Amino acid sequence: MSSFYLFILFILYSSSSQCFGNPPTYGAGTVQELGGLKAYVTGPSDSKLAVLLISDIFGYEVLKFRKIADKVAAAGFLAVAPDFFYGDPANASDPHFDTEAWLKNHTTDKGYEDAKPVIAAMRSKGVSAIGVAGICWGGKVAVKLAGSVDIQAAVLLHPGLVTEDDINKVKVPIAILAAELDKALPAEQLKDFEEILSAKAEFDSLVKIYPGVAHGFTVHYNDEDKFAVKSAKEAHKDMLNWFTKYVKCDSSQCFGNPPTYGAGTVQEVGGLKSYVIGPSDSKLAVLLISDIYGYEVPKFRKIADKVATAGFLAVVPDFFHGDAANASDPNLDRVAWLKNHTTDNGYVDAKPVIAALRSKHVSAIGVAGICWGGKVAVKLAGSVDIQAVVLMHPSRVTEEEIDEVKVPTAILAAELDKALPAEKLKDFEERLSTKAKVDNFVKIYPGVKHGFTVRYNDTDTFVIKSAEESHQDMLNWFTKHVKSDK
Ligand SMILES: *[C@@H]1O[C@H](CO)[C@@H](O)[C@H](O)[C@H]1NC(C)=O
Ligand SMILES: *[C@@H]1O[C@H](CO)[C@@H](O)[C@H](O)[C@H]1NC(C)=O
Ligand SMILES: *[C@@H]1O[C@H](CO)[C@@H](O)[C@H](O)[C@H]1NC(C)=O
Ligand SMILES: *[C@@H]1O[C@H](CO)[C@@H](O)[C@H](O)[C@H]1NC(C)=O
Ligand SMILES: *[C@@H]1O[C@H](CO)[C@@H](O)[C@H](O)[C@H]1NC(C)=O
Repeated sequence: MSSFYLFILFILYSSSSQCFGNPPTYGAGTVQELGGLKAYVTGPSDSKLAVLLISDIFGYEVLKFRKIADKVAAAGFLAVAPDFFYGDPANASDPHFDTEAWLKNHTTDKGYEDAKPVIAAMRSKGVSAIGVAGICWGGKVAVKLAGSVDIQAAVLLHPGLVTEDDINKVKVPIAILAAELDKALPAEQLKDFEEILSAKAEFDSLVKIYPGVAHGFTVHYNDEDKFAVKSAKEAHKDMLNWFTKYVKCDSSQCFGNPPTYGAGTVQEVGGLKSYVIGPSDSKLAVLLISDIYGYEVPKFRKIADKVATAGFLAVVPDFFHGDAANASDPNLDRVAWLKNHTTDNGYVDAKPVIAALRSKHVSAIGVAGICWGGKVAVKLAGSVDIQAVVLMHPSRVTEEEIDEVKVPTAILAAELDKALPAEKLKDFEERLSTKAKVDNFVKIYPGVKHGFTVRYNDTDTFVIKSAEESHQDMLNWFTKHVKSDK
C-alpha cells in the first residue's frame, strides 16, 4: 500500500517542472478545517445527508481510504474524513514502527472527543442526518459515537478493540462488516455481538463475515488480487446500502433541496453552468461533453468523478442550457430537439469554457465527448488548442472531421452501433493512422450497443464491465497525453 503511495508521490513530483510545488491532492475532494480538525471533504456541500469516515491508524491521506469517501460522495452524501492524528499517522513503510507507543499517543478516547465537534460542525452546516463509518481503530471510535451521540447509523469495518460493553450501549442501526480471518475479532466474539444486537428490537443491525479475507481488507487490499478487490467492493457496497437505508431526513427537512447528483459542485465556467469536480488547482483538466440527455445524468457524472479521482479537474458543462432531452418522455421529438441543440452551437459554446480553464492556470486539456458530444469533441480536436480527445460511441462524425484532427484521438465504439458501423470505423482508423504525429486508438467493445458507456443497465454485469473498461481506456488515454509540460 504505502510503497505504491510513495511511488505515486515520486511520479507526481518528478514528472514535470511546471507541476512542481503544486501536487494534486489525493481523491476528488478538498482538505478543509472542520470542527477543529483538518478533514478530507468530498460530495455535495449542500447535502443534508452526511457520512463521517474515521480512518484506521494509517490516517486520512491513504488513497484507498479516500476512494471510499469518494464512493460515499458519489452516492449523494457529503463525506467527511478527518485527520484524527494531527499529521502523525502510523507509518506503514517503517519496519521498526512502534505500534504500541503510537497507540498510547493516539487513543480512541481522544478520537471520540475530537469527533464530537466535527459532528457539531457538520450539523451547523445544515446537515440533518449523519452516518458514521469507522475502520479498525476508527471502528472503536464509531461504536462509542453510536452509543452516545446524535447520529443516525453506524458501520464498523473490521473494527478493532470493540467490547461487549460498547455494543451494549449502541442506540442506532449498526452494521459490523468483519473479515473471516481476523485474529483481533474472532467468530465467537462476533457471534456474541450479533446476539446482543439482535436482542434490541428498537433498531436494525447486521453482522456480516466476508470469507477468506483478513483484517484491513476493506482498505488495504492488493489491487492485483481479484478476490480481495471483489470482497472490498462488496463491503463498500454493503456500507453504502446501510447508509442509504438509515441516513435520511424527514421530508420536511429535505424538501426544496433535492440532493444533486455526484460528488462535485455546479458552477459557472466560460458562460455555461457546469458540474465541476476534482482538484481545483490542477494543471490538468478534462472537459466532458454529454450526450443529448445532458449534464445531470448520474451515470455521466460518475464518469466525471472517475476522471477527478485520477487527478484531473473534470468539467461537465450544461450545453443544453437547462433543456436536455428527456429520456423518460416516450414522445420526445429528437429531430426537433436536435434542431434546437446543434453540435455547431455546442462547438461555439465549448471554446469559452476551454478559455476559462486556461485562464485558471490549466495547462493541458483533454476532451471526452459522448454520442452528441463526440461530434463536438472531434471538431475541437481539429481547431482548438487541446491535448487529446476521446470519442465515446460518437454520432455523425464525418471523414472530413477525422482528417482535420490534430491531437491524439481515441475512438471507443460499440460493436452493435448502427450509427457507426465497422466499415466506417475502419475508414476512420486508416485516416488517423496516416497522421504520423498524431497518436490514435480505435477500439470496438464487443456485444454492446450505442450509448453503452453511460446508459448501461445496472443489473447487466457484462455491460457494466464493458462500460467500466471504456472508462479505464479513456482515463489511460488522458493520463498518456494530457500532461502539464505540453
Ligand atoms: C516512514 O518510514 C520510512 C522507512 O523507515 C521512512 O523512510 C519515511 O521517511 C517514514 N515516513 C514518515 C512520514 O515519517
Ligand atoms: C508521544 O508523545 C510524546 C510527547 O508528545 C512524544 O515525545 C513521543 O515521541 C510520542 N510518541 C509517539 C510514538 O508518537
Ligand atoms: C420527462 O418526461 C416524463 C414522461 O413524459 C415526465 O413525467 C417528466 O415530467 C418529464 N421531465 C421533465 C424534466 O420535463
Ligand atoms: C425550439 O425552439 C423554439 C424557439 O425557442 C421553441 O418554441 C421550441 O419549443 C423548441 N423546440 C424544442 C424541441 O426544444
Ligand atoms: C437489465 O438487465 C437485466 C439482466 O440482464 C434484464 O433482466 C433487464 O430486463 C434489463 N433491463 C432493461 C431496462 O433493459
